[in-house]
Amino acid sequence: MIAVSIIIVYLLLIALGLFFIGYFFLRLISSIISNHYGAPYVPLEDELVECMLSMAQLHPGDVVYDLGCGDGRILFRAVADHQVIARGYEISYYPYLLCRLRMLGNPRLARQMTVERKDFFTSNISDARAVLLYQHPDVLKKLATKLRTELQPGSCIVSARYPLPGWKPEQEDTSGKYPLYMYRVGSAG
Ligand SMILES: C[S@@+](CC[C@H](N)C(=O)[O-])C[C@H]1O[C@@H](n2cnc3c(N)ncnc32)[C@H](O)[C@@H]1O
Repeated sequence: MIAVSIIIVYLLLIALGLFFIGYFFLRLISSIISNHYGAPYVPLEDELVECMLSMAQLHPGDVVYDLGCGDGRILFRAVADHQVIARGYEISYYPYLLCRLRMLGNPRLARQMTVERKDFFTSNISDARAVLLYQHPDVLKKLATKLRTELQPGSCIVSARYPLPGWKPEQEDTSGKYPLYMYRVGSAG
């Protein structure tokens, strides 16, 4: 009996060890991938997510993108509070997996969302009514041209923390932890 208990404890310890090793490698590989693409995975605070969404002036049925969607927190809030169709791209395995788990846990909201593990630079986003961004300035510099080429006049971009190079903001909100910048495609900027 004691021998069986010892074996079970050993097996549990091995399973726990394997779990932590797997988790460690998933985080390591994810952070290497994110850094390679220019922006580490740093989730945005809920308070800023709400401000971002209200700045985007969303209407039910609008198509909204989060480029580099992390665990999907912006997409979930957008669907829950504004009844939009939310699309996200995330290159890194760990946040993508978190997002998928959240979607599994909330099938009602997930029906209004599509999330792909993919480089957003290789995706067409011309159906966007709004694009939400929390990206490193180097990534924003490259995105600035893509957004100008692909987005329809009147669509809206909200960038958290860093401004979009070469674009003139229609609105700025500096009341939170980080500034938020709102841009309108086709306006003077
Ligand atoms: C600062 S985090 C923001 C996460 C999320 N949007 C949020 O606000 O909580 C930036 C994310 O963009 C992802 N990312 C960076 N470059 C990417 C690319 N080219 N394609 C897809 N995802 C990318 C990173 O892996 C990272 O998870």
